[in-house]
Amino acid sequence: MVVERKHVRRGLWNHLMRCGVEMGLASIIYEVGVASKYINHAMRTGDLGLAGTSNLYGEEQLALDVLADEIIKDRLDHTGRVSKIISEEQSDIIIFERKGKLRQYSVCYDPLDGSSLVDVNLAVGTIVSIYSGDNPLQAGRKQMGAMYVLYGPRTTLVYSVGKGVYEFTLNSLGEYTLTRENIVLKDHGNIYSPGGQRQKYLPNQRKFVGYLEENGYKLRYSGGFVPDINQILLKGSGIFMYPALSGSPDGKLRLPFELNPMAFLIENAGGSASTGTMPILDVIPEHLDQRCPIYIGSRQEVAMAEKFLAVEN
Ligand code: F6P
Ligand code: MN
Repeated sequence: MVVERKHVRRGLWNHLMRCGVEMGLASIIYEVGVASKYINHAMRTGDLGLAGTSNLYGEEQLALDVLADEIIKDRLDHTGRVSKIISEEQSDIIIFERKGKLRQYSVCYDPLDGSSLVDVNLAVGTIVSIYSGDNPLQAGRKQMGAMYVLYGPRTTLVYSVGKGVYEFTLNSLGEYTLTRENIVLKDHGNIYSPGGQRQKYLPNQRKFVGYLEENGYKLRYSGGFVPDINQILLKGSGIFMYPALSGSPDGKLRLPFELNPMAFLIENAGGSASTGTMPILDVIPEHLDQRCPIYIGSRQEVAMAEKFLAVEN
């Protein structure tokens, strides 16, 4: 059978090579893609119990997020390009034992963000941030690349190495093929996606959300960071926020695993990401568990949030 070229979608590895992505960086992105297929499979087949339970044979089962963490860790080690990792599932920096002069990258990742949503069959994701060198705690601005995988009705992978933002979709042959290229955000939108309990909002945040509601913005919030960001990115506009709350001035989401990679992707699509007072990507992380409030999406809405937040509470 002769397959017409125009119907052949470009695979992930082929695309990375054609875009001239450095071999080490390309290997990391590709291997996270491989890891995500196993995570996807584990989730879809539903043969995993929660940690502490046992399977049919009386063997202890792993919680999905612990399993996802193991799968990604192994694939990153397997690239031979990574020296250190930090994971949302681990309390310390992990240094890979196998050495080699090609191990020139560090990776921060959240193996299964929103895993509590798996139970109720909502979308969840894997988030990854890649740095050059052996320090995984650098300012987000220094990222060499960032990506996420969204496990929804379809499984999609979005990445950027600073040369555009691309989406790939997992097909029935187990290949990621290019479905959107050079994704760009409009300056202004009409979707808002607000995290945190309204009851705990500080006055200026309350006013900002009130302003959005009075001006016809549509509420779109799933409670999963990856699908919520993906919606804004692929619909092409809007704002996601997880603000400072009373009792939690730094909000909920973590800088190295969640905020930096998403801020990198959104900025590369022409949007912006702010703590409310400064760009997320310029915050210097001091510890693994660092959190920040976040306002991310179309430039105009993020600038508007900053304006509201500049007023004393
Ligand atoms: O970090 C986990 C997470 O589930 C994110 O995916 C999501 O954006 C956030 O927490 C939701 O938090 P809340 O339930 O407070 O809105
Ligand atoms: Mn998370």
